[in-house]
Order: sequence, then structure tokens, then C-alpha cells
Amino acid sequence: MSVHKNVKKVTTHVLQEMKHAGEKITMLTGYDFSMARIIDTAGIDVILVGDSASNVMSGHETTLPITLNEMIYHASSVVRAVDRALVVVDMPFGSYQGNSKEALSSAIRIMKESGGHAVKMEGGQEILESISRILTAGIPVMGHLGLTPQSIYKFGTYVVRAKEQDEASRLIEDAKALEDVGCFAIVLEKIPAELAAQVAKEVNIPIIGIGAGVGVDGQVLVVHDMLGINNEFNPRFLRKYHNLYQEMLVSFHRYIEDVKTGDFPNQDESY
Ligand code: KIV
Repeated sequence: MSVHKNVKKVTTHVLQEMKHAGEKITMLTGYDFSMARIIDTAGIDVILVGDSASNVMSGHETTLPITLNEMIYHASSVVRAVDRALVVVDMPFGSYQGNSKEALSSAIRIMKESGGHAVKMEGGQEILESISRILTAGIPVMGHLGLTPQSIYKFGTYVVRAKEQDEASRLIEDAKALEDVGCFAIVLEKIPAELAAQVAKEVNIPIIGIGAGVGVDGQVLVVHDMLGINNEFNPRFLRKYHNLYQEMLVSFHRYIEDVKTGDFPNQDESY
């Protein structure tokens, strides 16, 4: 029986039930009202207002420059569009690392000013104090391990993480620590499929993968990537469901042609 089909509003509790029922969780990113409306209508379980907005919406090379105010702007646009999905909002770089008091006030601003339902934070044991403080205010937290793009300058590259035993063991310990502190789910990004499946087996909270194989409890993709709007990003883990880049280009060319030739607007399109 499907847990999610009968649900009017997806909550963290529903996601937990889906894991126990073996029902896969679907998550996509969303950054604006119009796109979020379509994603929610399609019946997605979770919309992540990802700090990937820094790349796909603002054109930055990394996720580091996006600000708390900008994340709140994107998140509030998404929240206004959504009836059913759980809306999770990324805490941006610099808004939670190293200072749990500041982490709490950043999370409170996100919840109060955007109306989002939960926050996501990158990191393991090194940010437990911040996570714990946020949880005490009743704000649900999703973890994020493996490739954590906010630490790109520490890693140096976007290659697959935790291929070596040391890093894999640390990742498993981190996942257990996030579960123990009270996170409701964890994103695992770009790690070996076997390791991700092991984590999904060993922890009782939902594990959502991106480039982490099929043995996890759900999947997430960046919506611009899966629609093929961005034609410069082609990692192995990405399945493109459309080539919107090409289709939009054709439409824009046709519009330019129609205006230049005087074909648009015609009589029916005029008052
Ligand atoms: O910001 C984002 O889009 C993310 C996903 C890639 C999980 O964190």
C-alpha cells in the first residue's frame, strides 16, 4: 500500500513511514513560485530550496556566495506555491558553521520569514552542536554528507567522495551521529552506491541520494539539470528527462523571427 498517495501534506513523520514501508521518497530542488507550483502539482514528496540556487539562479561558480536573505527570498516564493510537499530550505554557507547561537538565529529567520518546514545543513560531527541547538527550538533538520559543496575549497574537486575506507568509516559514523542527535533525514551526495546502501540499512531515518545509487530511501536532483535547461552539466548520475535548453532556444529563435518579420502579433492577437 502506498503511504504517500493518501497524504494531503507531507511531513517528516510521513517520510519516516515511507522508509519503513519501503516506499521511495521523491525530492527535487525548487527556487521560484512557478516551477514549485508544477513540481508540487506533480506530487513530489519534498521540495528542496537548495543553495544550488547560487549556481542555477544567480550564475555563481560555487554555492558559497548565496546569502541568508537570498535563500529566504527563494524559499518564501516556493512556500507560496506549495500545497502538499514538505519544503526544506538549505542553510547557506556561513550561517551556521562554528557558532551554534548564530546557527539557531539563522534557522529561526528561515522558518519565520519564509514559512519553510525544515532546514538542511552540510556536515557531520563538526556541526552537531549547531544542529542540536536548532532542534531544541523545534525546527526539523535534514543532514547532508558525502560531497558537501559548501566545502569545495577544502576538497578541491567535485569527484566522488568516500571511496577510501577511512573516509567511508567516518561517513558512517557521521550518519549515525546525525540520526542520534535527531535529524529527520540525510542527503548523501556522490558516494559509492554500496556505501550509501549500507548507510540506508544501518540508520533508521530516510536517506536521500544524489549520485549515491539505488539502494537508498529516495532520490533528489536539481530541477534545472533534470529538465536539461543547463546543457553544460552532464555528470554520470544525472538522468535528463528533457532537453529544455534546445527547446527554449528554438522558441526564442521563432519569437525573434516572428517579431522581426512583423508576423507577430497578427490580427487575432491584437485589440
Ligand atoms: O543545493 C542543492 O541543490 C543540494 C542538492 C544537490 C542535494 O543540496
